[in-house]
Amino acid sequence: MFAPIRSEYVGLVAETPLPSPAPALAFDVGTGTGVLAALLARRGVARIVATDQDPRALVCARDNVARLGLSGRVEVVEADLFCEGRAPLVVCNPPWIPARPSTPIEHTVYDLEGRMLRGFLRGLAAHLEPGGEGWLILSDIAEHLGLRSRAELLVAIDEAGLKVVGRMDARPNHPRASDAADPLHAARAAELTSLWRLAAA
Ligand SMILES: C[S@@+](CC[C@H](N)C(=O)[O-])C[C@H]1O[C@@H](n2cnc3c(N)ncnc32)[C@H](O)[C@@H]1O
Repeated sequence: MFAPIRSEYVGLVAETPLPSPAPALAFDVGTGTGVLAALLARRGVARIVATDQDPRALVCARDNVARLGLSGRVEVVEADLFCEGRAPLVVCNPPWIPARPSTPIEHTVYDLEGRMLRGFLRGLAAHLEPGGEGWLILSDIAEHLGLRSRAELLVAIDEAGLKVVGRMDARPNHPRASDAADPLHAARAAELTSLWRLAAA
C-alpha cells in the first residue's frame, strides 16, 4: 500500500486553511491508507467519506481508521473515484506520473495518461456543494520529466468547468531530493508539490 513516506503533501493538507465554517462533510477520493481522511477528521471535519477501488487500500484504510478511533466519522467506501452526492470539501491525491504502472504498488505512483487526475477534474464540479472547494494534490515532477505540461493541466482544469482559487506549494524534504547520484536528480531537485484549491467556475 502507498504509504506517505513523502510528508510534504500531508503537510499541505494539514496547513491549508479549511473553508469556513469547518466543513461538516468531506470526500477523500483515492484514500489509500486513509491518511488524508484521518487528517481531515483530526482537523475538525465532522464526517469524511473516503473512496478507493483497490481492495487492499480499502482494508488498509478501514484498519487505520479503526485503530485511530475514527470509524464513527470516516466511512471507507469502494467506488471508482467519487461516491454519490456533493460535499463542501473534496480532496484527491492522484498518482503524479502519467505513465504505465508495471506492478500493483506502482498504480499509486504511475497512472497511464493521467486517467485518475483527469477523471477527478471532470467529476469534481458535480460533487461540490455551492461554494465548495476541491483540493488537488499534485507534484510537478511529470512536468520536469516532460510527461505533462503546465498548460495541459490548466486546460484540463478549465475544460472541467473549474477555476483555481488558490495554491499552496511545498518543496520535497525526502532524502532522494538531495541525492545527486539519483538518475532523476535534476527533476527531483526542481520538484514542487502543490495543493491546488479548485472551485466550480
Ligand atoms: C497516490 S495514492 C494516494 C493515497 C492517499 N490518498 C495518500 O494521499 O496517501 C492514489 C490512490 O488512488 C487510488 N485510485 C486510483 N484510481 C482510482 C479510482 N479510479 N477510484 C478510486 N481510487 C482510485 C489508488 O488505489 C491509490 O490508493
